[in-house]
Amino acid sequence: MFNRGPVSVQNASPVSGGLPRFMMSVPGQASAGLAGDPREAAQLAILFIEDSLADFTLMRAVLVDAGLNVAAQCVDTETTMRQALAERAWDAIISDHSLPTFSGLRALKVAKEAGFRGPFLIVSGAIGEETAVEAMRAGADDYVMKNNLRRLPPALERGLREVQTRDQRQRAETALASAHDQLNAVFSATPVALFAISRECTVTMWSPACEDLTGLGAADTLSRPFALPSQPDTWKLLALVAPALDGTAVRGLPFSMDSQGEKRELLVSASPLSGSPPSGCVVALSDVTHLAHAQAELSRSESQLRELSRHTERVRENERAELAREIHDDLGALVTRIRADLALARRRSREKETAQLLDEAEQMVASLGEAISRIARAMRPPVLDFGIVAAIEWQARDFAQHTGITVNVHTNQDDLALELEQSIAIFRIFQEALTNVFKHAHATRVDVDLFADDSTLSLEVRDNGIGLSSDSLRKRTSFGLRGMMERVHGLGGWMDIGGSPQTGTPPFRGTTLMISIPLNPQDPPMSLPGGKTPHQDPEGLE
Ligand SMILES: Nc1ncnc2c1ncn2[C@@H]1O[C@H](COP(=O)(O)OP(=O)(O)OP(=O)(O)O)[C@@H](O)[C@H]1O
Ligand SMILES: [Mg+2]
Repeated sequence: MFNRGPVSVQNASPVSGGLPRFMMSVPGQASAGLAGDPREAAQLAILFIEDSLADFTLMRAVLVDAGLNVAAQCVDTETTMRQALAERAWDAIISDHSLPTFSGLRALKVAKEAGFRGPFLIVSGAIGEETAVEAMRAGADDYVMKNNLRRLPPALERGLREVQTRDQRQRAETALASAHDQLNAVFSATPVALFAISRECTVTMWSPACEDLTGLGAADTLSRPFALPSQPDTWKLLALVAPALDGTAVRGLPFSMDSQGEKRELLVSASPLSGSPPSGCVVALSDVTHLAHAQAELSRSESQLRELSRHTERVRENERAELAREIHDDLGALVTRIRADLALARRRSREKETAQLLDEAEQMVASLGEAISRIARAMRPPVLDFGIVAAIEWQARDFAQHTGITVNVHTNQDDLALELEQSIAIFRIFQEALTNVFKHAHATRVDVDLFADDSTLSLEVRDNGIGLSSDSLRKRTSFGLRGMMERVHGLGGWMDIGGSPQTGTPPFRGTTLMISIPLNPQDPPMSLPGGKTPHQDPEGLE
């Protein structure tokens, strides 16, 4: 029996004759280690439960001879074993089967209680088959007869390997369980309906959100062929995710399906599972019904707004036309009559002074007549009634005359028959474009292209001014460009304005405004109140 004090001895050779409890580290010889490493074997901490120093020494020597690098400690009671287990971690325990106050099976129990997970080998002088079986059942990894200690190193190595494999498997199982847990949590928590199908379209996963969407629970679907409540929906969805089963992910494809009496708008994504070809795919269905409704609502109110704006424009244009006509017809007629009366009075007047006053009055009335015509024309350019080409050319000339800015009009049309509403909209856009050139561009020249074919009319207004910055288009108190945009949208067309801001001296790159309008309006053309045709006045052509 050894002394029971906890003494460790490193690198010590076994010393006979009452050496106290010991820990021996014996450097391994170059050998095939446990992992088959040809370099120096890793040191193994082995706890021996043995009451015979001779046996312990022999076993250690056998292990060292086998090329193992062993750090060993030997104990022979339960108390010292518990101490040794508490003091450090052990790679293996080799226990005698029967000791005076202890036993291999008891030691195995103690080791298990202490959480020891390495190989536990029982070595015995004489062990019956039954005891051996019992030991193995109790969790021992192997047993070795003392008279056949050559088996000890391979038994130990195998035990270590098995423990290593067991640990790896356990780690893998733990990782798998945790991944599974996380996946389950994602599956349960996500509002996106997730499911997986095999290549054969058998359902292998079915999230709770799928149940909310389809009304079908996991019990109705798992391990069965994929099927939504409606067969056409099933086919449509399978057709959408089919590329994923061939290895190509699918992202955000729109899909609508019946969901428990309601129509749902969904976006479908599908990712292939591993394998070539993939073993299946995971499908995600995001419910965007609310978004789709909101979008539909938004575009409905946008189109209502547009309609309202068109209506307002129509009313404004009609009122302008009406007013222009009244001013021109009524006031114009009045002015003509006054002029005629004045001329008559002038002829009849005898007094020179009166005649002179009448002359002056007649001139003033003539000016009044011109002013009335000018105001009427501005309110509703009569030239519009001669077609948009004539109106654009007239407006260009008028603008050039009043501003001194050269305006060149290029067109492939002599005459273009448009709906009145289109003509007015294009004309007002052109007027605003020229006004902007005058107000903001500091330009000396404007080029206007007016082209049309059977389906489209395009108008481009280019100036050689200072260009415009991105801020220009966001001015809160500016409505000219917004109005143009509204008019263009009202006619189902598009508008673009561009030109970078320039500094320094001319020539500048200026600003270009482009509009394009389809020539097949879906709305009826604008008509004036009372079915009258708009005012026509060739004077407007100037
Ligand atoms: N041809 C142009 N050259 C340079 N800047 C321009 C031109 N056209 C427009 N802009 C810039 O774009 C801004 C917005 O133009 P918009 O016609 O919308 O408003 P506005 O002319 O300032 O005011 P209004 O509401 O009276 O039309 C202008 O303030 C100006 O800075
Ligand atoms: Mg403007």
